[in-house]
Amino acid sequence: MRRVAIVGVGHSKFGDRQDVNLRELAFEAVKPALEDAGVSPREISYVAVGTVGSWYEELFPAVPVAEYCGLSGASLVRVEAACASGGAAVHAAYMAVASGLTDVALVVGIEKMREVDTPLMVEFLGRGGSYLWEFENFGMTFPGYYALFATAYMNRYGATEEDLALVSVKAHKYAAINPLAHLQKEISIEQALNSIVVSWPLKLYDCSPISDGSAALVLASEEKVKELRADTPIWIAGIGSSSSTANLSYREDLLGIESAIKASQRAYKMAGLGPDRIDVASVHDCFTIAELLAYEDLGFCRRGEGYKMIREGETEIGGRIPVNIDGGLKAKGHPIGATGVAMVAEQTKQLREEVKPTARQAPLKNYTALTHNVGGTGHYCYVTILKR
Ligand SMILES: CC(C)(COP(=O)(O)OP(=O)(O)OC[C@H]1O[C@@H](n2cnc3c(N)ncnc32)[C@H](O)[C@@H]1OP(=O)(O)O)[C@@H](O)C(=O)NCCC(=O)NCCS
Repeated sequence: MRRVAIVGVGHSKFGDRQDVNLRELAFEAVKPALEDAGVSPREISYVAVGTVGSWYEELFPAVPVAEYCGLSGASLVRVEAACASGGAAVHAAYMAVASGLTDVALVVGIEKMREVDTPLMVEFLGRGGSYLWEFENFGMTFPGYYALFATAYMNRYGATEEDLALVSVKAHKYAAINPLAHLQKEISIEQALNSIVVSWPLKLYDCSPISDGSAALVLASEEKVKELRADTPIWIAGIGSSSSTANLSYREDLLGIESAIKASQRAYKMAGLGPDRIDVASVHDCFTIAELLAYEDLGFCRRGEGYKMIREGETEIGGRIPVNIDGGLKAKGHPIGATGVAMVAEQTKQLREEVKPTARQAPLKNYTALTHNVGGTGHYCYVTILKR
């Protein structure tokens, strides 16, 4: 396998993007990513587009996206792995470059979730859990699924609704200073606790919003990195993925996400390092409880101690491992196909020490970052470890 580096990143504004169509939204991320890498669209020989949308006017979105961005002719694939579609697209492009099949690949993550109204989107997402058993019989929605994880966790370890609210307060604090974030506002713990209940114990401020957005990355082989004279290539040191059952009743328990544990172990093994080396991370906080589970699944703390990390400020800037200091899915937004790509774009910027404003820049010791992108209730998970 060849070494693979990220040499270009792009990230659109996340939010309610009725001002652009799907192609234009993709272009907002692709153009800066190509410019950052110093490559022309013609130099891209492989394109992976991570997207879920089946509610768009475009049924095969990768094709018009590639056409609009001048990429037609490249090997092109649409990648779908629910909310981990972005992570899966990074994985596909990584394999294309690492295997020697291509020298320069482009990853695009895109979603326009606000093309349909909230009830319809909640139904689409809910059907992505376990359709025949959980959706048809019990009418499960995604807030409902993660409420099951939350009640199991609170009951087993004594975590409280305040602990969940602290995750949201942290996310909003950083989103408020991230111009690309969907919900750019600080909130208090009282606001979080008093917000409307969506599926107890999860309230409005425990949920990620329904967002539009895109992100893009240019990946290059080591030889190509030299040819491009890339200033600060960020290397993919480890990449791991795994999957689990759709039906939650087949899971051992709801106190963690098996696919995330396995994916992270594979990524750590490949990178030859452990969680103690990670300086900064983006984790899949689609709901606040998911961030606490991620701390534990990724080995940032012991099982049952994730809520203590948020209580003690360990995942803030200045703490042991700053997590989701771009606002996370919770407040930067969660355009599902774009999320996994946006995480890698954010961590690339962190490792290059290019984050603006600098109040959002994590201090670096080992120059190592991690991204954790979960699809469904753990149906899929992709973990990537980046090194400068
Ligand atoms: C919680 C939820 C139902 C709210 O949807 P909604 O009621 O249609 O929200 P709207 O878009 O109409 O926004 C209403 C207000 O709430 C705010 N808001 C919406 N979602 C929010 C969220 N998750 N957190 C904080 N504020 C939110 C909006 O900014 C808006 O504020 P304003 O009136 O001051 O402008 C929706 O965000 C949701 O389903 N989230 C989960 C998405 C999901 O499951 N993703 C997949 C995860 S795996």
